[in-house]
Amino acid sequence: MTARLIDGKAAALDIRRRVAEVVAAFRTRTGRSPGLATILVGEDPASAVYVRSKGKATGEAGMEGFSHQLTESTSEAQLLDLVERLNADDQVDGILVQLPLPKHIDTDRVIAAIDPAKDVDGFHPVNAGRLATGLDALIPCTPFGCLHLLKQELGSIAGKDAVVIGRSNIVGKPMAMLLIGESATVTIAHSKTRDLPDVVRRADIVIAAVGRPEMVRGDWIKPGAVVIDVGINRVPAAEDGKTRLVGDVAFDEAAKVASAITPVPGGVGPLTIAMLLRNTVVAAHRRSGLADPQAL
Ligand code: GUN
Repeated sequence: MTARLIDGKAAALDIRRRVAEVVAAFRTRTGRSPGLATILVGEDPASAVYVRSKGKATGEAGMEGFSHQLTESTSEAQLLDLVERLNADDQVDGILVQLPLPKHIDTDRVIAAIDPAKDVDGFHPVNAGRLATGLDALIPCTPFGCLHLLKQELGSIAGKDAVVIGRSNIVGKPMAMLLIGESATVTIAHSKTRDLPDVVRRADIVIAAVGRPEMVRGDWIKPGAVVIDVGINRVPAAEDGKTRLVGDVAFDEAAKVASAITPVPGGVGPLTIAMLLRNTVVAAHRRSGLADPQAL
Protein backbone atom coordinates (compact mmCIF):
# COMPACT_ATOMS: atom_id res chain seq x y z
CA MET A 1 0.00 0.00 0.00
CA THR A 2 1.32 3.42 -0.92
CA ALA A 3 -1.59 5.66 0.09
CA ARG A 4 -1.61 7.59 3.36
CA LEU A 5 -4.38 6.37 5.65
CA ILE A 6 -6.77 9.19 6.61
CA ASP A 7 -7.49 8.79 10.32
CA GLY A 8 -11.14 9.70 10.81
CA LYS A 9 -11.13 8.62 14.43
CA ALA A 10 -8.41 11.10 15.37
CA ALA A 11 -10.05 13.91 13.36
CA ALA A 12 -13.41 13.22 15.05
CA LEU A 13 -11.86 13.19 18.53
CA ASP A 14 -10.25 16.54 17.83
CA ILE A 15 -13.59 18.07 16.75
CA ARG A 16 -15.40 16.56 19.75
CA ARG A 17 -12.81 18.03 22.12
CA ARG A 18 -13.31 21.48 20.58
CA VAL A 19 -17.10 21.08 20.71
CA ALA A 20 -16.86 20.25 24.44
CA GLU A 21 -14.90 23.48 25.03
CA VAL A 22 -17.46 25.52 23.10
CA VAL A 23 -20.29 23.82 25.04
CA ALA A 24 -18.65 24.78 28.35
CA ALA A 25 -18.30 28.41 27.23
CA PHE A 26 -21.94 28.42 26.04
CA ARG A 27 -23.08 27.16 29.44
CA THR A 28 -21.11 29.88 31.23
CA ARG A 29 -22.65 32.52 29.00
CA THR A 30 -26.26 31.36 28.91
CA GLY A 31 -26.70 29.25 32.04
CA ARG A 32 -27.85 26.21 30.07
CA SER A 33 -26.42 23.36 27.98
CA PRO A 34 -27.24 22.84 24.30
CA GLY A 35 -29.85 20.07 23.91
CA LEU A 36 -30.18 17.38 21.24
CA ALA A 37 -33.37 15.34 20.86
CA THR A 38 -33.19 12.04 18.98
CA ILE A 39 -36.21 10.13 17.71
CA LEU A 40 -36.01 6.45 16.82
CA VAL A 41 -39.11 4.76 15.41
CA GLY A 42 -39.11 0.96 15.47
CA GLU A 43 -36.45 -1.59 16.38
CA ASP A 44 -34.01 -1.69 13.45
CA PRO A 45 -30.83 -2.87 15.23
CA ALA A 46 -28.38 -0.80 13.12
CA SER A 47 -30.43 2.37 13.69
CA ALA A 48 -30.62 1.62 17.42
CA VAL A 49 -26.81 1.35 17.56
CA TYR A 50 -26.38 4.68 15.73
CA VAL A 51 -28.88 6.49 17.95
CA ARG A 52 -27.31 5.09 21.12
CA SER A 53 -23.83 6.23 20.10
CA LYS A 54 -25.20 9.68 19.23
CA GLY A 55 -26.77 9.87 22.71
CA LYS A 56 -23.53 8.81 24.39
CA ALA A 57 -21.46 11.35 22.43
CA THR A 58 -23.96 14.09 23.32
CA GLY A 59 -23.39 13.49 27.05
CA GLU A 60 -19.61 13.28 26.62
CA ALA A 61 -19.63 16.72 24.97
CA GLY A 62 -21.49 18.15 27.98
CA MET A 63 -24.76 18.53 26.10
CA GLU A 64 -28.26 17.55 27.17
CA GLY A 65 -29.70 14.49 25.38
CA PHE A 66 -33.42 13.78 25.01
CA SER A 67 -34.01 10.31 23.63
CA HIS A 68 -37.42 9.36 22.24
CA GLN A 69 -38.02 5.73 21.34
CA LEU A 70 -41.30 5.04 19.59
CA THR A 71 -42.74 1.70 18.56
CA GLU A 72 -42.85 0.53 14.93
CA SER A 73 -46.64 1.02 14.92
CA THR A 74 -46.39 4.75 15.75
CA SER A 75 -48.59 6.73 13.36
CA GLU A 76 -47.35 9.60 11.23
CA ALA A 77 -49.67 11.93 13.17
CA GLN A 78 -48.13 10.86 16.49
CA LEU A 79 -44.61 11.40 15.15
CA LEU A 80 -45.52 14.83 13.74
CA ASP A 81 -47.02 15.68 17.12
CA LEU A 82 -43.75 14.83 18.88
CA VAL A 83 -41.75 16.90 16.36
CA GLU A 84 -44.07 19.86 17.02
CA ARG A 85 -43.55 19.55 20.77
CA LEU A 86 -39.75 19.45 20.32
CA ASN A 87 -39.94 22.47 17.97
CA ALA A 88 -41.68 24.38 20.78
CA ASP A 89 -39.31 23.18 23.55
CA ASP A 90 -36.69 25.81 24.34
CA GLN A 91 -34.34 23.24 25.90
CA VAL A 92 -34.07 21.50 22.53
CA ASP A 93 -31.62 23.04 20.03
CA GLY A 94 -31.35 20.06 17.68
CA ILE A 95 -33.86 17.45 16.49
CA LEU A 96 -32.67 14.27 14.80
CA VAL A 97 -35.18 11.81 13.36
CA GLN A 98 -33.26 8.62 12.60
CA LEU A 99 -33.82 7.32 9.07
CA PRO A 100 -35.10 5.11 7.56
CA LEU A 101 -38.62 5.50 8.99
CA PRO A 102 -41.22 2.70 8.77
CA LYS A 103 -42.93 2.51 5.37
CA HIS A 104 -46.30 3.83 6.57
CA ILE A 105 -44.68 7.19 7.46
CA ASP A 106 -43.98 9.89 4.84
CA THR A 107 -40.32 10.77 5.51
CA ASP A 108 -40.41 14.02 3.49
CA ARG A 109 -43.39 15.23 5.48
CA VAL A 110 -41.64 14.53 8.80
CA ILE A 111 -38.43 16.28 7.71
CA ALA A 112 -40.44 19.29 6.52
CA ALA A 113 -42.10 19.52 9.95
CA ILE A 114 -38.79 20.06 11.78
CA ASP A 115 -37.98 23.68 12.61
CA PRO A 116 -35.13 24.45 10.14
CA ALA A 117 -33.25 26.21 12.99
CA LYS A 118 -33.20 22.86 14.86
CA ASP A 119 -32.57 20.65 11.80
CA VAL A 120 -29.10 19.43 12.83
CA ASP A 121 -29.17 16.77 10.08
CA GLY A 122 -29.50 19.56 7.50
CA PHE A 123 -32.18 17.59 5.62
CA HIS A 124 -34.94 20.24 5.64
CA PRO A 125 -35.52 21.83 2.20
CA VAL A 126 -34.78 25.25 3.72
CA ASN A 127 -31.29 24.10 4.79
CA ALA A 128 -30.70 22.28 1.48
CA GLY A 129 -31.66 25.48 -0.36
CA ARG A 130 -29.53 27.67 1.89
CA LEU A 131 -26.51 25.41 1.29
CA ALA A 132 -27.15 25.45 -2.48
CA THR A 133 -27.35 29.25 -2.54
CA GLY A 134 -24.29 29.79 -0.32
CA LEU A 135 -26.18 31.10 2.73
CA ASP A 136 -25.49 30.01 6.33
CA ALA A 137 -27.11 26.60 6.70
CA LEU A 138 -27.07 23.55 8.90
CA ILE A 139 -25.04 21.14 6.75
CA PRO A 140 -25.65 17.38 6.54
CA CYS A 141 -23.17 15.68 8.88
CA THR A 142 -21.64 13.02 6.63
CA PRO A 143 -20.70 15.23 3.66
CA PHE A 144 -19.54 17.93 6.11
CA GLY A 145 -17.24 15.30 7.65
CA CYS A 146 -15.93 14.31 4.21
CA LEU A 147 -15.14 17.95 3.43
CA HIS A 148 -13.32 18.30 6.75
CA LEU A 149 -11.10 15.30 5.93
CA LEU A 150 -10.44 16.58 2.41
CA LYS A 151 -9.38 20.02 3.60
CA GLN A 152 -7.21 18.45 6.30
CA GLU A 153 -5.54 16.33 3.63
CA LEU A 154 -5.24 18.82 0.77
CA GLY A 155 -5.59 22.30 2.22
CA SER A 156 -7.28 24.15 -0.66
CA ILE A 157 -9.33 22.08 -3.10
CA ALA A 158 -9.98 24.98 -5.48
CA GLY A 159 -9.69 23.90 -9.12
CA LYS A 160 -9.49 20.17 -8.31
CA ASP A 161 -11.60 17.71 -10.30
CA ALA A 162 -13.97 15.96 -7.90
CA VAL A 163 -16.31 13.07 -8.71
CA VAL A 164 -19.12 12.28 -6.30
CA ILE A 165 -20.58 8.81 -6.92
CA GLY A 166 -24.15 8.83 -5.61
CA ARG A 167 -26.86 11.50 -5.71
CA SER A 168 -28.74 11.05 -2.43
CA ASN A 169 -30.16 14.00 -0.52
CA ILE A 170 -28.23 12.83 2.56
CA VAL A 171 -24.74 12.58 1.04
CA GLY A 172 -24.26 13.00 -2.74
CA LYS A 173 -26.14 16.23 -3.42
CA PRO A 174 -24.98 18.18 -0.35
CA MET A 175 -21.43 16.86 -0.93
CA ALA A 176 -21.47 18.31 -4.44
CA MET A 177 -22.73 21.66 -3.10
CA LEU A 178 -19.95 21.80 -0.51
CA LEU A 179 -17.28 20.99 -3.13
CA ILE A 180 -18.64 23.68 -5.47
CA GLY A 181 -18.52 26.07 -2.52
CA GLU A 182 -14.79 25.29 -2.25
CA SER A 183 -14.35 25.99 -5.99
CA ALA A 184 -13.74 22.39 -7.06
CA THR A 185 -14.95 21.23 -10.49
CA VAL A 186 -17.65 18.72 -9.62
CA THR A 187 -19.19 15.75 -11.42
CA ILE A 188 -22.08 13.86 -9.82
CA ALA A 189 -22.16 10.29 -11.09
CA HIS A 190 -25.00 7.81 -10.44
CA SER A 191 -26.51 4.54 -11.59
CA LYS A 192 -27.27 5.87 -15.09
CA THR A 193 -23.82 7.38 -15.65
CA ARG A 194 -22.12 5.99 -18.77
CA ASP A 195 -18.51 4.77 -18.54
CA LEU A 196 -18.30 5.32 -14.80
CA PRO A 197 -14.72 3.97 -14.54
CA ASP A 198 -13.57 6.56 -17.12
CA VAL A 199 -15.41 9.35 -15.30
CA VAL A 200 -13.76 8.38 -12.00
CA ARG A 201 -10.31 8.14 -13.67
CA ARG A 202 -10.40 11.89 -14.33
CA ALA A 203 -10.84 12.77 -10.65
CA ASP A 204 -8.31 14.24 -8.22
CA ILE A 205 -10.92 13.64 -5.51
CA VAL A 206 -13.24 10.62 -5.43
CA ILE A 207 -16.19 10.50 -3.01
CA ALA A 208 -17.89 7.10 -3.09
CA ALA A 209 -21.41 7.10 -1.62
CA VAL A 210 -23.39 4.43 -3.44
CA GLY A 211 -23.88 1.67 -0.87
CA ARG A 212 -22.46 -1.10 -3.06
CA PRO A 213 -19.68 -3.12 -1.48
CA GLU A 214 -16.26 -2.58 -3.13
CA MET A 215 -17.78 -1.32 -6.37
CA VAL A 216 -15.03 1.23 -7.09
CA ARG A 217 -11.96 -0.70 -8.27
CA GLY A 218 -8.30 0.21 -8.02
CA ASP A 219 -7.89 0.69 -11.78
CA TRP A 220 -10.61 3.39 -11.72
CA ILE A 221 -8.43 5.60 -9.52
CA LYS A 222 -6.09 8.22 -10.99
CA PRO A 223 -2.60 7.84 -9.49
CA GLY A 224 -2.27 10.28 -6.58
CA ALA A 225 -6.02 10.90 -6.16
CA VAL A 226 -7.58 11.30 -2.70
CA VAL A 227 -10.32 8.72 -2.06
CA ILE A 228 -13.10 9.26 0.49
CA ASP A 229 -15.21 6.13 1.07
CA VAL A 230 -18.63 6.82 2.60
CA GLY A 231 -19.89 3.23 2.20
CA ILE A 232 -20.65 1.05 5.21
CA ASN A 233 -21.65 -2.36 3.86
CA ARG A 234 -22.00 -5.51 5.90
CA VAL A 235 -20.91 -8.56 3.87
CA PRO A 236 -20.37 -12.23 4.73
CA ALA A 237 -16.84 -12.88 6.01
CA ALA A 238 -14.69 -15.85 5.14
CA GLU A 239 -15.55 -17.62 8.40
CA ASP A 240 -18.98 -19.23 8.78
CA GLY A 241 -21.82 -16.96 9.83
CA LYS A 242 -19.59 -13.95 10.50
CA THR A 243 -19.90 -10.59 8.74
CA ARG A 244 -17.45 -7.78 8.14
CA LEU A 245 -17.73 -4.12 7.16
CA VAL A 246 -16.48 -2.97 3.78
CA GLY A 247 -16.75 0.35 1.97
CA ASP A 248 -17.87 1.22 -1.56
CA VAL A 249 -14.20 1.13 -2.63
CA ALA A 250 -12.03 -1.99 -3.07
CA PHE A 251 -9.64 -0.73 -0.40
CA ASP A 252 -6.52 -2.85 -1.03
CA GLU A 253 -6.56 -2.12 -4.76
CA ALA A 254 -7.27 1.61 -4.40
CA ALA A 255 -4.66 2.07 -1.66
CA LYS A 256 -1.95 1.03 -4.16
CA VAL A 257 -2.85 3.94 -6.47
CA ALA A 258 -4.29 6.76 -4.36
CA SER A 259 -2.18 9.29 -2.44
CA ALA A 260 -4.57 9.11 0.54
CA ILE A 261 -7.64 7.03 1.38
CA THR A 262 -10.15 6.62 4.21
CA PRO A 263 -10.49 3.14 5.73
CA VAL A 264 -13.81 1.45 6.59
CA PRO A 265 -14.41 1.41 9.50
CA GLY A 266 -12.51 4.34 11.08
CA GLY A 267 -12.69 6.79 8.17
CA VAL A 268 -15.75 8.92 7.48
CA GLY A 269 -17.99 7.19 10.05
CA PRO A 270 -16.64 8.84 13.23
CA LEU A 271 -16.86 12.29 11.60
CA THR A 272 -20.64 12.01 11.19
CA ILE A 273 -21.29 12.06 14.94
CA ALA A 274 -18.65 14.76 15.52
CA MET A 275 -20.38 17.00 12.95
CA LEU A 276 -23.78 16.30 14.53
CA LEU A 277 -22.42 17.60 17.85
CA ARG A 278 -20.90 20.57 16.02
CA ASN A 279 -24.22 21.37 14.31
CA THR A 280 -26.08 21.14 17.63
CA VAL A 281 -23.82 23.62 19.42
CA VAL A 282 -23.91 25.94 16.38
CA ALA A 283 -27.74 25.73 16.32
CA ALA A 284 -27.78 26.57 20.04
CA HIS A 285 -25.67 29.69 19.42
CA ARG A 286 -27.83 30.88 16.53
CA ARG A 287 -31.05 30.25 18.46
CA SER A 288 -29.64 32.26 21.38
CA GLY A 289 -28.69 35.17 19.13
CA LEU A 290 -24.95 34.53 19.58
CA ALA A 291 -22.35 34.61 16.80
CA ASP A 292 -21.19 31.23 15.46
CA PRO A 293 -18.37 29.83 17.63
CA GLN A 294 -14.98 30.64 16.09
CA ALA A 295 -13.34 27.38 17.19
CA LEU A 296 -15.58 25.18 15.00
N1 GUN B 1 -29.64 7.35 8.59
C1 GUN B 1 -28.47 7.17 7.93
N2 GUN B 1 -27.71 8.27 8.02
C2 GUN B 1 -28.40 9.16 8.75
C3 GUN B 1 -28.13 10.49 9.20
O1 GUN B 1 -27.10 11.10 8.93
N3 GUN B 1 -29.11 11.07 9.93
C4 GUN B 1 -30.28 10.45 10.22
N4 GUN B 1 -31.18 11.12 10.94
N5 GUN B 1 -30.55 9.22 9.84
C5 GUN B 1 -29.62 8.59 9.10
